[in-house]
Amino acid sequence: MDKEHRKNLSRKLDHLQIAKDLADGPLSAGFEDIYLIHQAASPMSLVEIDTGLSFANKKLKVPFLINAITGGPRLSLEVNASLARVARELGIAMAVGSQRLAMADPDLETSYRIARKENPHGLLFANLGALCTPEEAVKAIEMLEADGLQLHLNLAQELAMAEGDRDFRSLLDKIALIVETVPVPVIVKEVGFGLSRETAMELWQRGVKYLDVGGCGGTNFGTIERYRQGIGGPTVFEEWGIPTAVSIAEVCSLSLPITVTASGGIRSALEAVKSLALGAHLIGIAGPTVKLLLNSSEEKLLAYFQQLISDFRSLMLLSGTGTLAELRKIPVIITGKTKDWLEQRGIMDQYRQRSSGTNKPDCR
Ligand SMILES: Cc1cc2nc3c(=O)[nH]c(=O)nc-3n(C[C@H](O)[C@H](O)[C@H](O)COP(=O)(O)O)c2cc1C
Repeated sequence: MDKEHRKNLSRKLDHLQIAKDLADGPLSAGFEDIYLIHQAASPMSLVEIDTGLSFANKKLKVPFLINAITGGPRLSLEVNASLARVARELGIAMAVGSQRLAMADPDLETSYRIARKENPHGLLFANLGALCTPEEAVKAIEMLEADGLQLHLNLAQELAMAEGDRDFRSLLDKIALIVETVPVPVIVKEVGFGLSRETAMELWQRGVKYLDVGGCGGTNFGTIERYRQGIGGPTVFEEWGIPTAVSIAEVCSLSLPITVTASGGIRSALEAVKSLALGAHLIGIAGPTVKLLLNSSEEKLLAYFQQLISDFRSLMLLSGTGTLAELRKIPVIITGKTKDWLEQRGIMDQYRQRSSGTNKPDCR
């Protein structure tokens, strides 16, 4: 094993060990600015609420995804096995962490393959950095018989890392090539700094139809890198990024037929319901799964998601929506800094019209 590979392996382990004790933030994901309307006489029964959706030709019982975390070291094998069992039990989706390590060392493939082994029929995403080659992308998909490929954009994280990439000129061309080459949907995702309208448009123009906004307010890779490198005070990367609620609106306001995953600091069913009301289709959660698994147990993680799903259904009833499609069209009240942001970006009117009842655009 060469020095570079050993370093990458130990970085993956460091990420897990740091993330298990890491607080969210310091920036907020912005959901405190979003309000939904309580429907006090909702003429519905909880059992009738339909939370199902199709994603990449598979059915999910509820719109949740255990987002990309890990793979490689021995601990990752155990983590991925647990995550896959929880995903199978609940009928939710899962992504493995970056498969870069397995590209260099086939012995590490088992730590990723375990996710498919534990959940043979589940919706499972492969994961690589967006600077990978089409050959690597195909290999990562085949390794898992994956239903989709997540390509992560992590420019801020790379810049925060002493050993990180510095040249991103080929990024968009590489993504376009991969979208053309691979046989499954390509989901381009951020890892906690958010996607803007401009980025979403650039990606759409290169054939990308699936985005994961990965906004700020949750796991902060600026902070993780500071701890990992033993840097004294906060770095610029820790207060940089687009809050998740804003990023969902930025992307969805383009009204393009893009399937949007909301992620980054989403911790409660209320934040999940607000995300869908802003236009997202699926909810990704990463940080809490690491904390619950490594500080507690697989049972506690399962219980967390069971509560989340139960609360999600209750909130759908209280907002008078029987399906996810209905939820994505309800009025949303946007206040505070999020409103200021969306106003200055010319996005606010779309939501305002929907909320005032004069128009009901489908902010995809
Ligand atoms: C320990 C850890 C490792 C991660 N590794 C990856 C990775 O390999 N690939 C990736 O795309 N995202 C990775 N992420 C980012 C998450 O998928 C997610 O985008 C980010 O943590 C924001 O979501 P959260 O606030 O719910 O944690 C990782 C997150 C954590 C906590």
